[in-house]
Amino acid sequence: MRRTRREFLTSSLALTSAPSILKGQTRSDELRVAFIGVGNRGSFLLRQMLKVPGVRVVAVCDLDEERARKAAQLVADSGGSARVWTDYRRMLDEQKEIDAVVQAVYDWAHKDVNLTVLEMGKHLYAEKPLALTIEDCRMTVRAARQAKGIMQVGFQLRYDPNRNASMKFIHSGGIGRVLLCHGMRHGGDLPRDIPWYFDREKSGDILIDQGIHILDLFTWAIGKHPVRAMGSGGTNLFVNEPPGRTVMDNYSLILEYPDGQRVNFSHHYFDPPRFTGIKERVFGSEGAIDLAEAVWQPRTERQAQKLDVPNAGQDATYMALAAFVDCVRNQAKPLTDVEAAFIATAQAIMGTRAIYERRIVSWDEVVKEA
Ligand SMILES: NC(=O)c1ccc[n+]([C@@H]2O[C@H](COP(=O)([O-])OP(=O)(O)OC[C@H]3O[C@@H](n4cnc5c(N)ncnc54)[C@H](O)[C@@H]3O)[C@@H](O)[C@H]2O)c1
Repeated sequence: MRRTRREFLTSSLALTSAPSILKGQTRSDELRVAFIGVGNRGSFLLRQMLKVPGVRVVAVCDLDEERARKAAQLVADSGGSARVWTDYRRMLDEQKEIDAVVQAVYDWAHKDVNLTVLEMGKHLYAEKPLALTIEDCRMTVRAARQAKGIMQVGFQLRYDPNRNASMKFIHSGGIGRVLLCHGMRHGGDLPRDIPWYFDREKSGDILIDQGIHILDLFTWAIGKHPVRAMGSGGTNLFVNEPPGRTVMDNYSLILEYPDGQRVNFSHHYFDPPRFTGIKERVFGSEGAIDLAEAVWQPRTERQAQKLDVPNAGQDATYMALAAFVDCVRNQAKPLTDVEAAFIATAQAIMGTRAIYERRIVSWDEVVKEA
């Protein structure tokens, strides 16, 4: 059934919470999972997935055979056994007993891998961003809507216990009317051992690749996608460092929302110790909340309050993977489904364009183009 644009946007911002952790699966109903891309992120996802009850990792694939072998060793160390592949298409064709795939390949390769996995009828946990262009995002949305399997995208911060509890508080009206979100992500530079991070053609640049996580949280808090973006950014310290660098090392971004709310976000890669940190603050008519800390400060009181946090201390990625497995079993819609990922990625594309082109860029302009 074809859905209207309004239904599409409303459903993708639905106020769902993270499912509970799975317990007591038997071997016969284990979910058989394959990994594609087991570098920095993929190997972390694998370590977390090996802790999720009811899952058997049966295959690992990486273009780099050495990495795939290391990943298979992680599976063996946990008592399992995974076949090693370097060609994901062959893996999906030849190893039939795969129910679900976790994808953590380069950003520019997301679309091709995602479309293949979805067309093969597998459930898919795919790393962010959805893709690097609106056209590729749209193709992925279409493929996911038609697919037999479910698709969840790697915005794991939504499953982080503190942020999830904060968001429930906001959505239940706890902070009153949402007025404004203020965020910062200030730290040192990107890891130099992952060269593609520094190439904007391959990563989409640091807003689409990294800032996207915090912007996704703010749009989730506000409950509507932004309507325009303005910003400024560039490379002020790490000029041509590492050689050939085309990504920024800082930017500031403002997003405006239909009911007058705004997001004010800054992202730096050259902050010295004691100036670094992440802040994700949502201001409402009754006070403000720090999402990452789950601390609520009413406007008229001096004392801040720590919220009750279910699953406190659990890792966000573990929670996201456990939720994915839960959704597969219950045929439920993931909290970070393809529609939510479309909005998160489109707003990051809009923001990046506003910075590059030094002008106000509207949502309609960006989203209509494909
Ligand atoms: N959600 C998060 O917090 C988070 C954090 C870091 C990275 N990521 C995302 O994870 C993805 C991977 O990033 P990374 O840091 O692990 O990079 P990486 O370069 O360390 O790893 C990517 C791996 O994918 C493999 N690969 C690429 N194309 C492949 C293909 N066609 N078939 C098989 N293997 C292939 C590469 O050989 C490499 O080992 C990116 O999309 C990135 O944006 C997400």
